[in-house]
Amino acid sequence: MPTIRIDQPTVGQTPQSLGLNLSWTKTEQEAITRTLAKYPQDRQRSAVIPLLHIAQRKCNEWLPVDAMQLVADTLDLPYIRVYEVASFYTMFNLKPVGKHHVQVCTNCACLIRGSDAIVSEVKSHTGLTASGETSKDGEFTFTEVECLGACVAAPMMQIGTHYYTHLTPEKTREILTHLQNGGDPAKYADTAPTQDADPIHNGKYGQ
Ligand code: FES
Repeated sequence: MPTIRIDQPTVGQTPQSLGLNLSWTKTEQEAITRTLAKYPQDRQRSAVIPLLHIAQRKCNEWLPVDAMQLVADTLDLPYIRVYEVASFYTMFNLKPVGKHHVQVCTNCACLIRGSDAIVSEVKSHTGLTASGETSKDGEFTFTEVECLGACVAAPMMQIGTHYYTHLTPEKTREILTHLQNGGDPAKYADTAPTQDADPIHNGKYGQ
């Protein structure tokens, strides 16, 4: 059993207070079984990244300590080994994010295709001024990110599990307004939502 627990920004926010249920649902368990089947029997622990994705999706797109503990327990890993992975990769959030986590790619292809204007539009629409901020009403978190692998459809952003591509400031504003009004995230998106660990490679974009 993992025994190491360490201090981090989520301390004080128990999963219970956040209404989270930290055992796998039947659907999640099925996704985990499918994921683990891709790894050799003696390399099951290598599935830590896909399982962290499943855990993050379960927990409103961030990873409380207990979510990482659940992954550790599932893979029979020490907690610290899971935390090391989760804290290394920027796609894992170790503190709560807004209802809509707006991740705008500002890497080369998107920059050349005008991501500066997209960032400006997101900032002016949400009132957020810096990457990593969350709006007071909890509606939006804005993060500048590196290449998300959809350069062919630059400039682009990811919100939740969806990719939004070929952006213009006008289209960006329309998407954010649509989400703010409770609209279906899939309406403008290029990827289909999925229960599996890796939504990026299950969808299509650039069309
Ligand atoms: S540079 Fe933006 S998706 Fe690759």
